[in-house]
Amino acid sequence: MTEYATITLDDGRTMKLPIVKGTEGEKAIDIRALRAETGYITYDPGFGNTGSCRSRITFMDGEKGILRYRGIPIEELARRSSFVETAYLLINGELPTSDELIRTSVKLNDHSLVHEDMNTFYRNFPRASHPMGILSAMVNALRSFYPTLLNTEEEFEQTFLRLISKVRTMAALSYKISLGHNVEYPRPDYTYCTNFLHMMFNSPVRPYKVHRKLVKALNVFWILHADHEQNCSTSVVRSVGSSRANIYASVSAGISALWGPLHGGANQAVISMLENINENGATISQVLRKAKSKKDTFRLMGFGHRVYKTYDPRAKIMKKYCDDVLKKLNINDPLLNIARKLEEAALSDSYFADHNLYPNVDFYSGILLRAMGIPTNMFTVMFAIGRLPGWIAQWREHMTDPEQKITRPRQVYLGYNKRSYVSMEKRGIED
Ligand code: CMC
Repeated sequence: MTEYATITLDDGRTMKLPIVKGTEGEKAIDIRALRAETGYITYDPGFGNTGSCRSRITFMDGEKGILRYRGIPIEELARRSSFVETAYLLINGELPTSDELIRTSVKLNDHSLVHEDMNTFYRNFPRASHPMGILSAMVNALRSFYPTLLNTEEEFEQTFLRLISKVRTMAALSYKISLGHNVEYPRPDYTYCTNFLHMMFNSPVRPYKVHRKLVKALNVFWILHADHEQNCSTSVVRSVGSSRANIYASVSAGISALWGPLHGGANQAVISMLENINENGATISQVLRKAKSKKDTFRLMGFGHRVYKTYDPRAKIMKKYCDDVLKKLNINDPLLNIARKLEEAALSDSYFADHNLYPNVDFYSGILLRAMGIPTNMFTVMFAIGRLPGWIAQWREHMTDPEQKITRPRQVYLGYNKRSYVSMEKRGIED
């Protein structure tokens, strides 16, 4: 039976609004009829109180620190799954059978080359370009190479496998080109993550031996980033898709949104912050003071989250893998020690406790990426590769949801009331 919430407006009118319930007990007030019946809209900058869709993909409980993909806890997926299997789960809704997984891996291999003409684009970006800008442009360009429309299940499957496979190759390619090195092609006998490390680091003069520990760590890194319900970049992917723009354009826009330091770009910003402490003599208490100051726009990077008001469950796993990988590979990264001390100091500071600010996924992820040899300016690209299955799953859900329309919020207008055009002679002359 439908439950209702009743609102009373300032003129005394009341309206009954249906309550929508989720499978985990969340409740939302369905305001779709509000404007038509009352003339009012809701005001919610940043959409912190707005549900934009009904989704079956990812569940988060920010108070309890829970994250599940298609019902399966992130901790279990990190322990037992692979990135490719998790991508399949997110996009198709169920874990694959072994035949389905093999078929997916074969197809990922088939799609793993990048059209040679794309190299021309790559080679013409200025050397100083940020890899996120390049990735966004190149994903958009994929549409020109693969203009197939997504009318059938097969076309959709081919497109999503193509995207997941090629984006990884394109990321490694951009790194090699930035070094001025020859491109390393993917190998058919390597799995998705092994191939990425091979394409990044193998060289004719220094053959790269892929370490099993790093492959597992990379799988976990990408699983942890694979989806996070209606975050900024995913909402952008859905919004762009809502205008019926193609999937490449939608994902390209998502990459741009992810680039920002308040979102995926935070992983790069965390390392700059830790390096600043390590190399430039900044102290932990100075950094915390700066982060707390209302006069300063600086924030403690890798801390805080719109949804999590407790420790980000991804950060817990990331921290464990960081410790583990560095220990097993005998890597002594001074930034890990600084990060641990910074976390401890922040967690015992009343400002961070009062604001419910805890480490998020980006706090330790950069240290893990450094252990793999990934350069800092590629960190957010690593996040983007991981988030791709989520963007694709959410894009598809949006496109097939009969309740969805083109994204088009309203506004409360605060500008001038009607006034007349003033001719140039009457506007006054500036010096
Ligand atoms: N350092 C210092 N103060 C902070 C921080 C921080 N990292 N994060 C939030 N605050 C304060 C903020 O100043 C505000 O204080 P007050 O109420 O006294 O004015 C209060 O906490 C609420 O902040 P908000 O900006 O309204 O919160 P939000 O939900 O809009 O922002 C956030 C979420 C992630 C953008 C923010 O916590 C932040 O900027 N964190 C640092 C950047 C970062 O690590 N981003 C990665 C997020 S996780 C990966 C991803 O999904 O992208």
